[in-house]
Amino acid sequence: MSKISAAITAVGGYVPDYVLTNKMLEDMVDTNDEWITSRTGIKERRILKGEGKGTSYLAIKAAQDLIDKTGLNPEDIELVIVATATPDMKAASTSAYTATQIGAVNAFSFDLEAACSSFLYGMSVAARYIESGKYKKVLLIGADKNSSMINYEDRATCIIFGDGAGAVLFEPTEEALGLQDEYLRSDGSGREFLQATYGGSSYPSTPEAIKDKKHYIFQEGKTVFKNAVFNMADVAVKILERNNLAVNDISWLVAHQANKRIIDATANRIGLEDEKVMINIEKYGNTTSATLPLLLYDYESKLKKGDKLVFAAFGGGFTWGSIYLKWAYNS
Ligand code: UT7
Repeated sequence: MSKISAAITAVGGYVPDYVLTNKMLEDMVDTNDEWITSRTGIKERRILKGEGKGTSYLAIKAAQDLIDKTGLNPEDIELVIVATATPDMKAASTSAYTATQIGAVNAFSFDLEAACSSFLYGMSVAARYIESGKYKKVLLIGADKNSSMINYEDRATCIIFGDGAGAVLFEPTEEALGLQDEYLRSDGSGREFLQATYGGSSYPSTPEAIKDKKHYIFQEGKTVFKNAVFNMADVAVKILERNNLAVNDISWLVAHQANKRIIDATANRIGLEDEKVMINIEKYGNTTSATLPLLLYDYESKLKKGDKLVFAAFGGGFTWGSIYLKWAYNS
């Protein structure tokens, strides 16, 4: 019997309608469009508004988009993974709610949290279920409502993050397509540089912490930047070497959208031309777990069967890694 590989066979996406532009941020904090654009590549980001709407709202919309596009029967989905750093609630699984709402009534589900690397790690997990031969339809959703943990008086973070979601379906293939290799890493000494200190189990929220806005994200941008540049480039090089890939073999770099300068540095390190680098950071900012699937969503029509994609991500924790995947279909 030939080897079973895990292929992405469909993509869906969703971003909320509300657009927060750099110009609007100029009225909120001491910043300007020129600084944000030149330092990050971001022009605008989407924000989810509305009482009680959390990450599952985004995840459901992205999954529904995939279902509508493909005609997939949600009852055939066996596993729903929601990769997210902003679950709806503590204790209650965001993925269970999402699965039920999309009609995936026969699926089991769980959330997966690895900060901005959540979706990348989720690809690895989804692939293992498929490769086992036991599961045929795994829905992986990357979704984050980052605006729920941003202090819109902090110019170091509020200019970067946005809300959004993307979904992919993993199915088995016996062709030489799908996920080929991965190189995943983490280093806990990085957690002090990017975190929301209060509101978790170490430091539950107190009225004082909320007053001091310590339940919002804090980031020491420069340190995270340096680590992201070094490590994303490093894992991209490793995955090429391990798979004997020359730069000309690569069809697309699918890199986490945190800062255009980090993406450019990764592409430069491997010598990849700009035309092969997927970019949508200017429209959405950093959507954490949603950046990679939203890139696939935006570029789906350009992807061809057999294209060689190198994924790379870096996030809080620190967590990072790269994946080599061969695209499985023509749109
Ligand atoms: O997805 C998870 C991983 N996260 C990341 O990968 C993010 C990594 N970090 C970054 O993308 C960048 O570090 C930032 C975009 C957050 C900041 O860019 P930077 O080039 O590292 O700026 P900086 O923090 O070194 O600040 C440079 C200057 C400072 O002024 P002085 O001290 O040189 O006078 C800042 O006070 O820019 C100032 N500054 C700003 N000015 C206008 C910082 N933030 C802003 C701002 N608007 N929003």
